[in-house]
Amino acid sequence: MKNTENIDWGNLPFGYFKTDYNVRCYYRDGKWGKPEATSSEYISVHMAATALHYGQEAFEGLKAYRGKDGKVRLFRWQENARRLQNSAKGIMMAEVPAALFEEAIFKVVELNAKYIPPYGTGATLYLRPLLFGSGPQVGVKPAEEYLFMVFVTPVGPYFKEGFKPVAVEVVRDYDRAAPKGTGHIKVGGNYAAGMRPAERAHKDGFASVLFLDAKEKKYIDEAGPANFFGIKNNTYVTPQSTSILPSITNMSLEQIARDIGLSVERRPVPLEELETFEEAGACGTAAIISPIGKIYDRILDKTISYGDKPGPVSIKLYETLRGIQEGTVEDTHQWTTVVNGI
Ligand code: PLP
Ligand code: COI
Repeated sequence: MKNTENIDWGNLPFGYFKTDYNVRCYYRDGKWGKPEATSSEYISVHMAATALHYGQEAFEGLKAYRGKDGKVRLFRWQENARRLQNSAKGIMMAEVPAALFEEAIFKVVELNAKYIPPYGTGATLYLRPLLFGSGPQVGVKPAEEYLFMVFVTPVGPYFKEGFKPVAVEVVRDYDRAAPKGTGHIKVGGNYAAGMRPAERAHKDGFASVLFLDAKEKKYIDEAGPANFFGIKNNTYVTPQSTSILPSITNMSLEQIARDIGLSVERRPVPLEELETFEEAGACGTAAIISPIGKIYDRILDKTISYGDKPGPVSIKLYETLRGIQEGTVEDTHQWTTVVNGI
């Protein structure tokens, strides 16, 4: 049990930080057991587990926010529960019932309450639920046993720049996901497929990549581990694609955009349209909103710039979203749930 007094909350990276407990639950003999807390960071898993061979694995990401009023809030956790069920369906895993998801996430936050970063530090407690085939198979077929677990880690912003414009790179020579593949669910294989171009981009000084649609390479898909949006003519524009993850943050920003009087367009976004945006950004739980300052196309050796300061619409969206999460802006859509008793 660590002492949390010496944690430098304001300078936490987006990374793993050991906390006290995680919560686990097995699916065996056709039913889910009870979620149990453990302090071990390790899992003992069968060497023929389907997760290890055939990629039967999916995960989620959500955060607990310490509000200005001292309360701790989870943001739209029901959407994460639903998306994990979609991911499970997509790769033939046992689905985690919403009630079990709820019990596990609330329990893990309560047990690790001392790791929830204080309000005003910019840091939050990141929850990482994961589900995988733990039962053995050698033929390519679904496991009969699954492990669902949730761990937490206090984190700073995903992009070290925080709410400052980042440079991203268009990728044409790799695909993250196929149009009828698994891009719309949150399975580990998508992230493995994106690692090679992402590492190249990091090495070359870019915060992230911008994937294009795999079939034609004509449209914007998403910005690494975040969705893409552009702003122009008082309109919030975000890609429609079968190969991007339906981001809960993006869905929320679309609603906030409407609430503050913008039009919203979710439609294919051609690559050439990038030059017409007044502002651009990447959004996600980990990324929050990361304004995009520059987009570089290595094949054309061309750069599009949006300036080195966040634009006014991005600022408004960011402040409203953070405000709702931290309890300083009225939660008119009932997106947050207070974690009682901590
Ligand atoms: N796109 C990808 C590929 C992601 O991994 C994530 C993160 O979960 C997102 C987008 C953003 O989704 P959300 O806002 O639900 O966190
Ligand atoms: C999230 O935003 O929660 C994510 O899952 C992104 C992650 C891949 C770092």
